[in-house]
Amino acid sequence: MTTTTTIRPSVYVARLLTDNVQRELEAREDVTVDVGQEAPPSRSELLARVAGKDAAIVTLTERIDEEFFQAAGPGLTVVANVAVGFDNIDRQAAEHHGVIVTNTPGVLDGATADHTFALILAVTRRIVEGDRFLHSDQPWIWGPRMLVGLDVSAGAVLGIVGLGRIGRAVAARAAAFGMRVIAADSTLSVGQVVDGVEVVSLEDLLASSDVVTLHVPLLPSTRHLINRRTLAQMRPGSYLINCARGGVVDEEALIEAIDSGHLRGAGIDTFDGEPRVNPELLARPAIVCTPHTASAGEATRDRMGRLAVDNVLAVLNGRPALTPVPA
Ligand code: DGY
Repeated sequence: MTTTTTIRPSVYVARLLTDNVQRELEAREDVTVDVGQEAPPSRSELLARVAGKDAAIVTLTERIDEEFFQAAGPGLTVVANVAVGFDNIDRQAAEHHGVIVTNTPGVLDGATADHTFALILAVTRRIVEGDRFLHSDQPWIWGPRMLVGLDVSAGAVLGIVGLGRIGRAVAARAAAFGMRVIAADSTLSVGQVVDGVEVVSLEDLLASSDVVTLHVPLLPSTRHLINRRTLAQMRPGSYLINCARGGVVDEEALIEAIDSGHLRGAGIDTFDGEPRVNPELLARPAIVCTPHTASAGEATRDRMGRLAVDNVLAVLNGRPALTPVPA
């Protein structure tokens, strides 16, 4: 009697995903799974563990470049990023090695828009300042001038830079709050109206908005899109929110704009050179910072992990990836 052994494709999962997704993935009998820890792997561990694998599920903390693809070897067919952003991945190197890259668009729009709105309200209504004040145990009594901030619901203007899925989800929340919403998007024409939002030039948006919120990917063309020049174009006393990528903002220039009083506050979820955070940002009470948690909703993180797994399974089974990133 002869026995046949089926070789199952191997999947390297660089970091532990949610319990639900890990349980589902590890119960599968059609793949073997090599799972890392909750913390990011060291560079040497990443390169060693991807060697010989057919697929890899990675996050934005892993740099996926030529060295990675060489370490993986010729069997690697797909890299699934558990994020909608993919600036951690060298797409040219992937294409050169014939590896499909996927991301997780569409499943984190609501969570990211919610977090964006939480930061808008936190900075305009000085929520964190108020919390810190009470924790400082200073004597206090209600006062007409105490911690006064911007009324977003009194027709304040929200300028959305990047009117993709997340930008549009933010627009819907802002409209419900009574804000007037405008947007700038290099893929749309000025004067166009999308979901009730008027598209204007970036210059007009910066000059007219009480709050500017960024929802563009980090590309060579968007690196330091917000810099000394564009910050100077913002309305005096306005606010900046960044839940996109840290590299979109020149952080030194932002700190100067806060210190001069030109900007009244900022809400920042992503940092240039993460996980390092410029201590000068943290030292300013007018800047509210969160540790890149805009997509950190329980159901959202399940959906992100499942979409990454489904992309890998599709490619390993000879089907098109569900959400491929264009090369
Ligand atoms: C993304 O999906 O790109 C987010 O930044 C991860 O939270």
